Amino acid sequence: MCGIVGILGTDAVAGALVDALRRLEYRGYDSAGVATVENGRLDRRRAEGKLKNLELRLSNQPLQGRTGLGHTRWATHGKPVERNAHPHMNDRVAVVHNGIIENFQELREELTARGHAFQTETDTETVLHLITDCLDQGLVPVAAAKTALRRLKGAFALAIIFAGEDNLMIGARQGPPLAVGHGHGEMYLGSDAIALAPFTDTITYLEDGDCAVLTRETAEIFASDDRKVDRPAIKSVASSLLVDKGNFRHFMAKEIHEQPEVIGHTLGSFVDFAAGQVHLPDLGIDPAQIRKVSISACGTAYFAGMVGKYWLERYARIPVEIDVASEFRYREPPLEKGGLALFITQSGETADTLATLRHCKEQGQRIASIVNVRTSTIARESHVVLPTLAGPEIGVASTKAFTCQLAALACLAIALGRARGTISETEEKVLTHALAEVPRHVSTLLHNEPHYERLAHELSRARDVLYLGRGINFPLALEGALKLKEISYIHAEGYAAGELKHGPIALIDEQVPVIVVAPADELFDKTVSNMQEVAARGGKIILISDASSERAGCALETHIQIPTVHSFVNPLLYAVPVQLIAYHTAVLMGTDVDQPRNLAKSVTVE
Ligand code: G6P
Repeated sequence: MCGIVGILGTDAVAGALVDALRRLEYRGYDSAGVATVENGRLDRRRAEGKLKNLELRLSNQPLQGRTGLGHTRWATHGKPVERNAHPHMNDRVAVVHNGIIENFQELREELTARGHAFQTETDTETVLHLITDCLDQGLVPVAAAKTALRRLKGAFALAIIFAGEDNLMIGARQGPPLAVGHGHGEMYLGSDAIALAPFTDTITYLEDGDCAVLTRETAEIFASDDRKVDRPAIKSVASSLLVDKGNFRHFMAKEIHEQPEVIGHTLGSFVDFAAGQVHLPDLGIDPAQIRKVSISACGTAYFAGMVGKYWLERYARIPVEIDVASEFRYREPPLEKGGLALFITQSGETADTLATLRHCKEQGQRIASIVNVRTSTIARESHVVLPTLAGPEIGVASTKAFTCQLAALACLAIALGRARGTISETEEKVLTHALAEVPRHVSTLLHNEPHYERLAHELSRARDVLYLGRGINFPLALEGALKLKEISYIHAEGYAAGELKHGPIALIDEQVPVIVVAPADELFDKTVSNMQEVAARGGKIILISDASSERAGCALETHIQIPTVHSFVNPLLYAVPVQLIAYHTAVLMGTDVDQPRNLAKSVTVE
């Protein structure tokens, strides 16, 4: 979602602002802009589309100010056109914003009635007029911004600069993350530490309700009641090197290929392979007393959670409820005090997941989370964190974070199973041994890319693609369909194989490829029946399985052969072919694989 950067610099900052925005590109955006204060006057450049358009604009008409804001916009209110791009400004104030001002309509009407003329369709413009209105009433800039902030409802990270104020920048946070970066005689604001890494590694994360008043020398932070507060400055480990693609064409390809290593790291942080034992951080709750686990997550992380449900129920014998985070609260599920609520998230900032976490906390739940970004809000607000060690994930479509989430969930299932006595010491050894083998097998699966390139030709001609899976492989069918549709824009749906007859079978003809995720486990023969139903109707079957083609009992368009492993770890292996299918199809179709249209990496609005 939108990326924010602000610099109180010692030289012209426009170039540095664009560099920082480049580091935020991964979040997804459709227009960009910068504004600076130059000789006391505000000026801006904006452009629709990618940053190169903004750079071109800046090279034709440079900005020289030493104080400035930059923004990448992911459209919510108003089309992704230059007119709606941030910064929004007039001759007194410039504003950039991430989030949604929920009461913007009401504010817009009030301000319009008072003579303010709106130029855009955005909710952000109300902030601009609100601050201007306060300035008109004689308030000084800091007071004007604070007064305006008190009127806003919704979720926002804001950065504000003022005409005539070369040494002042205001940041505010209510929801989406915002960090202050402390430099030597310079000060920064950014959506995350990655954006600020080239400038400083000393970061203060704002808390909800905070307002930061920055100069080049000082950073004063005020809580929502306007009390001045101390927020710790921490050393960030984000690298100042722009995370690059190495020898790969896309971040997504690089991240898929990093999986053997990062799954290994994540497993290694929880498993003592020599002893064949799992050691997790203390959950702060007696595993034997856990009556139910409630899992919430969004997108790909939700599918990881679905796999986790199968593992926790089977191996730890704990009932698990799972919801997409955007639905959980509205279902108003009864939550017993002391229950365990588990959140799964790569970014740790997904608005719906965070809101659900806070809801569960209020209901007295113990909060555990599986998070990739350690400094994120969800990590900070959880009672206990199981970190995934996937490293920065830049491709919008999640790949390595997903398999690392699976690795953490597998370890959780074993640890809880042991603590509850539902798996024995010997079984723990068998399961951890199976996990130890995963990186090697994943590595093997990555050596068969020409196969996927050939398959991509077939899929790229399809209008619809179905994915089928049964049992613990059903979530992988869902994940496969999500991956394909988000990066290739081909319509794809995942179904539980047994549901085929209850609807999806009506779609099947010679034009519809059906991708079947079916290891040769105890459910395989049932899925074979479903494949035969597809074959009988002319559907083209692509089987992902360790079973031989003969066992499928029908003609296969393609057979992606997977190594035979302990069925416990199958999901970690079968995730890889569904990623590669989507990736190669998208490459063939020429889409923007790392930043697919309309999608955002970190979804900070509900
Ligand atoms: C977005 C991303 C997905 C991701 C989901 C949840 O939709 O495009 O790749 O799975 O958000 O994000 P999270 O950071 O909470 O895992």
